[in-house]
Amino acid sequence: MSAPADAEQHKQAVRDVFESVATGYDNPATRFFPFCAERLTDFVRPRPGSRVLDVATGSGAVAIPLAQAVGPQGRVHGIDISAAMLAQAEANARKMGLNNIDLHEMDAERLDFKADHFHHVVCSYGLFFLPDMAGALNEWARVLRPGGTLAFTCFEESAFEPMLEHFLQTLQAFGVTLPPGPIGAKRITSLHHCRELLAGAGLEQIQTQVAQMGYHLADENAWWEAIANTAMQGWLRQVEPARLDELRRAHLDHVASLKTADGLWMDVQTRFARGVKPAT
Ligand SMILES: C[S@@+](CC[C@H](N)C(=O)[O-])C[C@H]1O[C@@H](n2cnc3c(N)ncnc32)[C@H](O)[C@@H]1O
Repeated sequence: MSAPADAEQHKQAVRDVFESVATGYDNPATRFFPFCAERLTDFVRPRPGSRVLDVATGSGAVAIPLAQAVGPQGRVHGIDISAAMLAQAEANARKMGLNNIDLHEMDAERLDFKADHFHHVVCSYGLFFLPDMAGALNEWARVLRPGGTLAFTCFEESAFEPMLEHFLQTLQAFGVTLPPGPIGAKRITSLHHCRELLAGAGLEQIQTQVAQMGYHLADENAWWEAIANTAMQGWLRQVEPARLDELRRAHLDHVASLKTADGLWMDVQTRFARGVKPAT
């Protein structure tokens, strides 16, 4: 991201997309979010009574299992830039009967919390949306207590392939200009990169894992549900509205040919990375 103005514009665009997908975000096609959240909670293992920050909480996929793990004496703070996503999180927490989650509309790069406050800071599938990933991690480490854990997840290169590659090609054929290099959701490019990011924020005892969070979707229409209810929807906004149907058919006709007897495999290969703030 070249300049602060570009960064703010990027954040605004990301917020706009999540504002519009919020009500459809928790749908069966994208159930990898809660699957991953359970695994991330295990990866961090918060003790009952802990204070935890869930950055880019979205609809609360991670905040909810964390709140269950820390119990009534503990507290989870979930922050997000999108008020509509936070409204979903609030409804989901209420459905689960949880009253130890606090939600705040806040930018992940500028936290309004005091230093050394949280036992754990986590972020699932959110770091790569931030213009200044290194700056954000420094900020997350600032609010972490010495000895506390910071953990995040991100997508591997194979995630959503081969459908994603065809989707991107189809978008281009319909006049969408994509930036060079990996798309935003894949800008964390390796386990080594995860480690570098954590080390750059002063974290130690770094551990990484890779896990497949994917599954078979019923068919190509379920894949379209995944596109329409995640950040992928942002690209569709750049397509002439009159041509959207044509694009959808061109893409899904190809995706239908990838189905097997089990359905349509959706790869969600995911990296998990964690580090500990050194005790002072
Ligand atoms: C793919 S969703 C992940 C949500 C949740 N962590 C999960 O696993 O389901 C990404 C979230 O990041 C949020 N987000 C993006 N940029 C942000 C920023 N600058 N500050 C706070 N939240 C942000 C979006 O609004 C969205 O809710």
